[in-house]
Amino acid sequence: MQIGRILRYPLWALEVLGPTKSFARNPILGSPRLNRMGLHVWRLSTAHRMAAMRRARLGSRIDPDQRRAFDRDGFFVIHDFLPADAWRRLSEETSALRLPAREIREGQTVTRQLLLTPRTLARLPQTRAVVGGRGINDLVRYAGATASAPVWFYQTVIADPARSEADPQTELHSDTFFPTSKAWLFLHDVGEEDGPFAYVPGSHRLTPRRRAWEHRASIDAADDPRSNHRGGSLRLGAEDLEEMGLPAPVRMCVPANTLIVADTHGFHGRSPSPRPTVRVELHGHLRTNPFLPTALLDAKSWPFIRDRQLDIDAGMHEFAVRRLGARRKWHWTGPVALDAPASV
Ligand SMILES: [Fe+2]
Repeated sequence: MQIGRILRYPLWALEVLGPTKSFARNPILGSPRLNRMGLHVWRLSTAHRMAAMRRARLGSRIDPDQRRAFDRDGFFVIHDFLPADAWRRLSEETSALRLPAREIREGQTVTRQLLLTPRTLARLPQTRAVVGGRGINDLVRYAGATASAPVWFYQTVIADPARSEADPQTELHSDTFFPTSKAWLFLHDVGEEDGPFAYVPGSHRLTPRRRAWEHRASIDAADDPRSNHRGGSLRLGAEDLEEMGLPAPVRMCVPANTLIVADTHGFHGRSPSPRPTVRVELHGHLRTNPFLPTALLDAKSWPFIRDRQLDIDAGMHEFAVRRLGARRKWHWTGPVALDAPASV
């Protein structure tokens, strides 16, 4: 046991210069002593400096007004994103859609993903046009501070407040220690009671007060009772926002055909749903190794891999469950409609 642990130290050391964020699973990243000496803050500051360099190269592709708003707030909100014709075609395409999906339950909420493989996209011309669009991908790349390839899929969020277990994604949190982006093109209106996305404006910036808060949080994060916090997705409350001089989160109640793209290093969360809700969106993710100077070094941007990122992720999860005895988080369903009830 002890020898196995010693043999893993070189790997853990290598992870210091990568995207690994878990304080609990990597004893170097979680070391109270090293974090008191500034290891976490060094990773945070270096990753932000690298991100600023990469993001500056991507800025010319963004409308100047939108760019100013993003730099101030940490998110883009674009109403009526698709022209009326394209929106009608996308609505028709998605209402007829039946695809195998995978589902994960987190407390009272189930998240379903319908993977968009190259083969699936070949049958969905309007979806393909949207996810292949230069404009939408430029926004996701700017928010994620990398020219790498976003991954797109249909996502359904099904909340059932009758179940007592809390949804950990409703806690205000930062996804990781470096800029990273998520995008939502909402297929239905999202009202006050539909669990809207909430974001703390300006919380994507690394200010001296944020750095001080992260330093303190990193020292005992590995032993925190909240598993996501231990895992490097730091949770916080209203008193922490006050300490950092940040405002309260804004809840983004938006009509269908609104695109939101956010740097989810900034503090955000799903708002709790007081009633049963089903929220459907075309969803994008983009996360890279924050220490890479250029996306050319990121395998996710390489041909063959870039269009199959979720397939590869799903395959690795299956391998870990079947061969390595890992706990199954994702459960496969047969072909389902986007708004079908949850099956886990
Ligand atoms: Fe998140």
